[in-house]
Amino acid sequence: MAETPTEAKKQKRYSSRDISQMSAQEFVDAARVPYRRIVGYIKPYRKRFAVGVLFGVISSLFNGVLLLAIRSVFIVVLPPDPNKPLPTHFEPFKDIPWLEQYVFPRPHFTHNGELIFVICVCLSVPLLIFIRGLFDYLHKYCIMWVGNKVLYQIRDECFTNLLNQSQRFFNKAKQGELMQTVFNQTRIVSTMGTEIVSSLIKHPVAILTILGVLLHLEPVYTVGALIVFPLCILPVVYVSKKVRRAGSKEEEEAGAIMVTMQESFAGIRVVKAHAREEYERERFNAGSRKMMEFIMRWGKAMEIVGPLVETVASVGMAIGLVYAWMMKINAAEFLVLNMALMSMYPHAKQLSRIQVMLQKALLATSKVLEVIDTEPDVRDATDAAELTGARGEIELRDVTFAYAKGIPALRKVSLKIEAGKTYALVGQSGAGKSTIMSLLMRFYDPDAGAILLDGRDIREYTQRSLRDNIGLVSQETFLFHDTIYNNIRYGRLDASRKEIEAAAKLAHAHEFIIEQKDGYNTELGDKGCTLSGGQQQRISIARAILRNAPVLLLDEAYSALDSESERMIHEAMEQLAKGKTVIAIAHRLSTILNADRIVVMKDGRVVDVGPHAELLGRCEEYRRLYELQFHGHDALPMAADAVI
Ligand SMILES: Nc1ncnc2c1ncn2[C@@H]1O[C@H](COP(=O)(O)OP(=O)(O)OP(=O)(O)O)[C@@H](O)[C@H]1O
Ligand SMILES: [Mg+2]
Repeated sequence: MAETPTEAKKQKRYSSRDISQMSAQEFVDAARVPYRRIVGYIKPYRKRFAVGVLFGVISSLFNGVLLLAIRSVFIVVLPPDPNKPLPTHFEPFKDIPWLEQYVFPRPHFTHNGELIFVICVCLSVPLLIFIRGLFDYLHKYCIMWVGNKVLYQIRDECFTNLLNQSQRFFNKAKQGELMQTVFNQTRIVSTMGTEIVSSLIKHPVAILTILGVLLHLEPVYTVGALIVFPLCILPVVYVSKKVRRAGSKEEEEAGAIMVTMQESFAGIRVVKAHAREEYERERFNAGSRKMMEFIMRWGKAMEIVGPLVETVASVGMAIGLVYAWMMKINAAEFLVLNMALMSMYPHAKQLSRIQVMLQKALLATSKVLEVIDTEPDVRDATDAAELTGARGEIELRDVTFAYAKGIPALRKVSLKIEAGKTYALVGQSGAGKSTIMSLLMRFYDPDAGAILLDGRDIREYTQRSLRDNIGLVSQETFLFHDTIYNNIRYGRLDASRKEIEAAAKLAHAHEFIIEQKDGYNTELGDKGCTLSGGQQQRISIARAILRNAPVLLLDEAYSALDSESERMIHEAMEQLAKGKTVIAIAHRLSTILNADRIVVMKDGRVVDVGPHAELLGRCEEYRRLYELQFHGHDALPMAADAVI
């Protein structure tokens, strides 16, 4: 949202190694751009964020107030001279007149109410702790609120941008890693934006406040503490190098584990069919072990900071004790001084952790921003037109396309497809048949040449409207983990129940659907696994019928079906094809015989186009295919679609 293209270009993806080798200055430079981007996400909520930070600052200031109050309590409860009568006033802030005058007016007590006086004095501490806690709570609430808004926004942008990526992107990407980025890395990023920023303000304020009180009470002692304090930071600097190396690798391993999990679940049939459970388990555990190792290394480095700081601080305390003895500081004063020093410690510890968190956050941010900044390679033109009610006339003009550098899948393919006619694509496996369909759907854009629909380049239409006009029944059916009803409705979300049932009837699916436990409301398993292959296919055909698009692309693969289902599906397909431009990848003789024209493909080229009888006479490649694959072998698979 806040990024500009130039900024986007500046964003670089860092590996954990890059970060581990950075000097402090390089780190600050590297973090500048991502940091600015994250601040951009907070901007819409800046008011609440500012209020949250303000609450944090107030709660931090209360640390100082609390110390002064505790000091008064000690003076009352542990008086230097126990025989002296108690003061007539409760004067926690007598050294700071303005605080006493405006914030905490001085209550009066009589000599007779000594106990009441002591109780009231002592109660001031819980009261102040309550107030400090309340502000801290409000601070955390506001920061969490903003953090969650930012997280929601970043996740939304990540997911949306991923959905908009072309097929080419997903061919290369690892789904598990994408899931890890969208889910986990974004969380780290939002933490960086909110909690870290607020901590960077809150903790220094707390430390400065306490230091201020200390300076006020006992300047020499405080100056001494100020010398010891930086010494406490030294161990942090020392371990941070170690942490940099280990910290970020953990996230990488987490990504690897997600990849293994996602693949084994998605491919569970293959895993089981090959009895590879042990193999997958080992892959998973190898990642798990590595991750554990990094977490341990990271944790060790993080946790060593505390004891080191404490040791150095206790040396300071020892020196302080000697000083107290020399200066004859009384017990109450000494306790307060040390309490002040101790209460600085959690804040210093949090501050010391921030550097480690920042390193993790930089890595996560660079990954998340990379996802957000990846421009889809198939995009709508700025002046893209809406395509409504296409006639269905298709033309490929010298289309060349390669999935990756190397051998093109299509070479200068030119083909005219008349509206309302049925075309069958034939050719050996790998000839480029499915590729033509992918290009028609604009899953990819051709490298050269153009594809026209109704006389206009399909790149001039919006992708959405183009795809609204095309129905696709692909080789592999995909059903969602949802009801049968919703799975059919996916074809057209505003369809009525009547229309959905009508589509199911046309697809010969209605009969088996009503036999299911809950009829149309039956929940399907993942990818529709609670149905047979033929039933799944009929549901996906019903989905395409419901869509009722003027152009229909059919990637046939019935080799796994029994002849009864096959006949029914074939009938369903005929219903579906009426009055539409149909391009069918033919694996069966009946499809070829029903087609108006047959397109013969070989090695990414169109060899010939014509009706069956003509082609048999003049096209050698067609004759060869026919002899080999169709003649007397109806429904013989050309591709090994059904093989696991
Ligand atoms: N996602 C992809 N990434 C890289 N290359 C691909 C991809 N899909 C297909 N190819 C290559 O493109 C060529 C054409 O593939 P295509 O899927 O169009 O063949 P097909 O004619 O549909 O074959 P089949 O009958 O086996 O389905 C093949 O050489 C194949 O290796
Ligand atoms: Mg294919």
